[in-house]
Amino acid sequence: MLSFLSFTLLALSFQLVYTDKSTPAKPNAFDLDSIKYFYAFGDSYTFVQGTAGHANFSFIGDALEPDFTPAELTTNNIIPRNTSSEGSNWVEFLSGCFQGLPSECKTQLWDFAFAGADVDAALLPRHHDYTLQLVEQVDQWIQYASDVIPHPDNETLTAWWIGINDTGDSFGNSSIPDFRAFWEKEMASYFNAVQLAYNAGLTTHLFLNVPPGERSPSWVGRPDAPQVRSHINLFNEVMDEYRDRFAKQNPGATVMFFDANAWFNSVLDDPARFGFTNVTGSNTSPDPQGFFWYNAGHPTEAVHRLLAEAIRAQLQGDDL
Ligand SMILES: *[C@@H]1O[C@H](CO)[C@@H](O)[C@H](O)[C@H]1NC(C)=O
Ligand SMILES: *[C@@H]1O[C@H](CO)[C@@H](O)[C@H](O)[C@H]1NC(C)=O
Ligand SMILES: *[C@@H]1O[C@H](CO)[C@@H](O)[C@H](O)[C@H]1NC(C)=O
Ligand SMILES: *[C@@H]1O[C@H](CO)[C@@H](O)[C@H](O)[C@H]1NC(C)=O
Ligand SMILES: *[C@@H]1O[C@H](CO)[C@@H](O)[C@H](O)[C@H]1NC(C)=O
Ligand SMILES: *[C@@H]1O[C@H](CO)[C@@H](O)[C@H](O)[C@H]1NC(C)=O
Repeated sequence: MLSFLSFTLLALSFQLVYTDKSTPAKPNAFDLDSIKYFYAFGDSYTFVQGTAGHANFSFIGDALEPDFTPAELTTNNIIPRNTSSEGSNWVEFLSGCFQGLPSECKTQLWDFAFAGADVDAALLPRHHDYTLQLVEQVDQWIQYASDVIPHPDNETLTAWWIGINDTGDSFGNSSIPDFRAFWEKEMASYFNAVQLAYNAGLTTHLFLNVPPGERSPSWVGRPDAPQVRSHINLFNEVMDEYRDRFAKQNPGATVMFFDANAWFNSVLDDPARFGFTNVTGSNTSPDPQGFFWYNAGHPTEAVHRLLAEAIRAQLQGDDL
């Protein structure tokens, strides 16, 4: 069974490479340039600051006041370089929408991510009473935005990056005896929200998994870092299962995946190649040249820029 699978994968990758060379149209390519509406859900790695947002946490609204009028949404400006890095973040680099009204960008960034979000307040406590968890971000979009901002199937991409806080918050929580079972509950809630978003018209999805938090300044060098690593890897494994299931149950959906965990590891393993001179410490100065980490748990703008480039390259099927 396993060897049949490996053979199939080998054959498949051979075919992709082979076809790549023989025809200009890449069979695995996704045309990012056709995307005019870029939606995002997630946590601090993904949020951008809006003039109608909760300061340092969101583009618009919070858990205490998730509602907004159509006018509040369409006049809400992205404040440039106000993310969890010292500058712009990956969704801004990927969409090219860095500031001002999203509707004035060539690719409009509509970002419902909230800094510090977990998947679901029924499973893990909110960091603050105003923290809008992922399932609530989706609800917020459905209730107050889905009829206001366009999302035509052929011009819309929705990005999901969640779990960084869930894995951090739950590590060492002794009231959770079985983490596979706990992650299954989280994924059931997560993919229920994805399903609701799909049912409300978001059909093309890009999922990122949790990066290696054990290599961030919070954990690196600590004796329990290997346990954090297994903790995160299990979350990602269960996420793979639920993402595949969502794709099978929704043949009309386009489901893409970027392995952020593998990408972070590849950069951290060979930092000089990517221009980093320090991958274990952090530097919150306005110009943290050479640093991978901006603070104990968040990467610098340079990392966000490279990440967006790597995602773009993968989606377009470029030879890496
Ligand atoms: C998407 O579909 C609409 C309606 O069919 C069409 O006008 C538009 O050009 C399409 N966009 C792209 C990028 O193909
Ligand atoms: C980001 O914006 C908030 C207000 O929305 C402000 O309080 C904060 O100082 C800004 N941060 C930076 C780094 O500009
Ligand atoms: C937002 O974060 C910046 C940078 O950490 C900080 O200087 C500022 O005081 C924060 N703003 C608010 C309103 O908390
Ligand atoms: C989660 O979110 C908070 C913001 O509420 C942040 O300070 C923290 O470092 C994040 N990361 C982890 C791994 O918990
Ligand atoms: C530990 O997990 C349980 C079960 O989900 C949750 O109710 C509790 O709030 C968590 N504790 C902390 C400190 O996050
Ligand atoms: C990385 O940066 C930290 C924080 O500034 C510093 O303490 C550490 O010595 C640096 N490590 C290297 C290898 O330069």
